[in-house]
Amino acid sequence: MENLLAKSPETRTLPNGPATATPVLRLTDIEKIYQTKTIETVALNRVNMTINRGEFVSIMGPSGCGKSTLLSLMGLLDEPTSGTIEIDGRAVQSFSDRELAGLRNLKIGFVFQSYHLINDLAVLDNVELPLLYRSGMSGKERRQRALNALDKVGLSARTTHFPSQLSGGQRQRVAIARALVGGPEIILADEPTGNLDSVMGEEIMALLLDLNRNEGTTIVMVTHDEQQARKTQRLIRLFDGSQVG
Ligand SMILES: Nc1ncnc2c1ncn2[C@@H]1O[C@H](COP(=O)(O)OP(=O)(O)OP(=O)(O)O)[C@@H](O)[C@H]1O
Ligand SMILES: [Mg+2]
Repeated sequence: MENLLAKSPETRTLPNGPATATPVLRLTDIEKIYQTKTIETVALNRVNMTINRGEFVSIMGPSGCGKSTLLSLMGLLDEPTSGTIEIDGRAVQSFSDRELAGLRNLKIGFVFQSYHLINDLAVLDNVELPLLYRSGMSGKERRQRALNALDKVGLSARTTHFPSQLSGGQRQRVAIARALVGGPEIILADEPTGNLDSVMGEEIMALLLDLNRNEGTTIVMVTHDEQQARKTQRLIRLFDGSQVG
């Protein structure tokens, strides 16, 4: 566990694809079937992909093709119906629930399509939330980190607002600050600029590119924007639950 959670030195010094690419996430023959009372949906059908350390990958595809499902599996928020997910070369099935919770908290930052902010917590408290699970971090440090993260997304002036008092774009930026605050190795972002105007969208994109280039953060981003996708290192296209490119 300790080793898995440690940030390996190459992440920081060789962010953009060293000669020996290191897989951080590997999905093999992934199938995800949602079963409701009346209908069975094959959301992902035999998906195979490897995300290497320090990569910035975008995922595109029509509505309902399985993009959010894929991200939630990568983020260890849900389990596939069949197939294997490996994180740093170790099969996720072999982790205990406690280990999984630790991995999610320390290694992965998630930006959800629908923000998932806590409405009765102020902006600063929302951003601090992931740090509450870090043992040994003082309240003062938590606060400072949250303020830094909010500064990065241009929301220093909104720390005491509640989510309901913010615009959609501002809520998304709070969600991004919350994903950044713990210094994750991997950021999984589901349409992080989908609700932003083009100027703010560019700024968020620049922020993600900067995190990837300068801090070596591995990023997987769902987007509907071809221009944004072109700025990333690799584009994966999904159609009807399968990879098409
Ligand atoms: N919890 C669930 N229960 C049942 N079906 C689901 C569930 N979540 C997703 N689905 C179905 O799985 C398919 C893939 O959904 P998913 O949310 O991954 O699509 P998406 O590519 O993210 O779409 P969008 O671009 O609209 O966000 C859809 O047909 C959807 O209706
Ligand atoms: Mg989606």
